[in-house]
Amino acid sequence: MAGTYILGIESSCDETAAAVVRSGEKLVSNVVFSQIAAHQAYGGVVPELASREHLRAIVPVVRKALSDAGQSYQSIDALAVTQGPGLAGALLVGISYAKALAFALDKPLIAVNHLEGHIHAVLLEERQKGNREIRFPVLALVVSGGHTHLFLAEPRDLAEPGAAGWSYQNIGHTRDDAAGEAFDKVAKLLGLGYPGGPVIDRLSTHGDPTAVKFPAAQLKHRDRRRDQKDRGGPGYGPRFDFSYSGIKTSVLRYVEVHGLQASIEARRKALAGIEKPRLEDYLQHCDTKTLNLVASFQRAVVEDLVAKTLAAARACDVATLFVTGGVAANNELRRRFEQAAAMEGLPAYFPSRPLATDNAAMIAAAAYPKFLAGDFAAEDFSAEAGMRL
Ligand code: KG4
Ligand code: ZN
Repeated sequence: MAGTYILGIESSCDETAAAVVRSGEKLVSNVVFSQIAAHQAYGGVVPELASREHLRAIVPVVRKALSDAGQSYQSIDALAVTQGPGLAGALLVGISYAKALAFALDKPLIAVNHLEGHIHAVLLEERQKGNREIRFPVLALVVSGGHTHLFLAEPRDLAEPGAAGWSYQNIGHTRDDAAGEAFDKVAKLLGLGYPGGPVIDRLSTHGDPTAVKFPAAQLKHRDRRRDQKDRGGPGYGPRFDFSYSGIKTSVLRYVEVHGLQASIEARRKALAGIEKPRLEDYLQHCDTKTLNLVASFQRAVVEDLVAKTLAAARACDVATLFVTGGVAANNELRRRFEQAAAMEGLPAYFPSRPLATDNAAMIAAAAYPKFLAGDFAAEDFSAEAGMRL
C-alpha cells in the first residue's frame, strides 16, 4: 500500500523495541522485548545489564518487526531511532545499529526524542481511529518511570499539520522522582517486586484509598525559580512542577511507625518463590493495612497529577489533553483524568496500554513529520542521555 514506511527502533531503558508505522497514522507492526525478567532479581533496571540485553535482542526484534509488517530492509523508506533521554549505554545500542543499517541500506535516519515519541503514540492511535478533529494546542502529560513532564505541543504549520514539524514547550516537570519511579520505589519497599506500577494498580482496588492521609505538603516542591537568574527572560512563565520523593518517604515512615517491616520481609520472600505471582498471590500476602496504604498512595499521586495538569490546562487555555507514558496505563489515573477533563469540557486522549509503555511505534510515528520536513540525523549524532524536549 502506498505511503511512507518508517522502521522505528527504541532502546532507551529496559525494552528493546522495533515497529513499522505507515505515514505516522497506521501501526503496521509492533514488537517489544521486555527485559523485566533480567532485572527483576535486582529490584530495578541495572544499566550494564540493559545494554547487554539490548545487544542480544536488537537483531531478532528488528527482523520480526519487518516480517510482521510484510516489509524488508530494502522496502522501508526510512529508519528512526531514540536519541534520548535514557540510559547512555542502552541508547547507544539502538543508535549504533540504526546508523549501521541506514548506512548499509542508504536510507535516511531520523533521531527522535523519547518524550516526543510518547506524545506521538496518542496521535498515531487517534489518526488510526480516523480522528481528524484534534484541536491545538495540546497539553501533554508524559508520565512514566523516568519522566513526569508537561508540554504544550502543536504542529508548526496548523494549515498542514506535521509538514513543518512540531513545537513543544515544557511548562512543568518533576523536581525529584518521576511518578512511575515513586510507584516502583514504594512497591519495592513494601516487598511487592518490580515494576511496581502494574501491581499497585491492581492491588489498589482492594484497599481503602482514604485510609492514610498524605498531607499535600508532601507533594510540594521548593520553587527554585527564585534562584534563577533569567527571571523574566525568554521561556519564563508559570510552572506546574511535581515532586514525588516526599510521599515515598511518608510511606517509609508509615511502615516504621506501624511496625510493618516483618510482614514485608515475609511477603518479599514468599513472592520471590513464585515465578509469576498472580493477583491472588499478592492478596494472600497483603494485610488490610498494607492494601489501604497502597490504595492511599495511588490516590494521592493520581490526585496530584490530575490537579496540577488541569490547573496548567486552565492557565494555558489548551484545546486538548493527552496523558501518555507508562503510568498512563493506570486505571485510576485514566478514570480520574476522564472525569476531571469532562467537567472542564476538555477532550482527553490516552494511548492504548501497549502504546502507553515504551515501544518503537511511537518513535516511528514521531519521525514522520521530521521525514516530511527533511529533518534527518547528522552522520555524527550520538546518544544524549539527558536530552530535553
Ligand atoms: O514509559 P515506560 O514504559 O518507561 C519509561 O519511559 O520510564 O514507563 C514505565 C513506568 C514504570 O515506572 C511502571 O511502574 C509504570 O510505568 N507503570 C505503571 C502502570 N504500568 C506501568 N504505573 C502505574 N500503573 C500502571 N498500571
Ligand atoms: Zn518512556
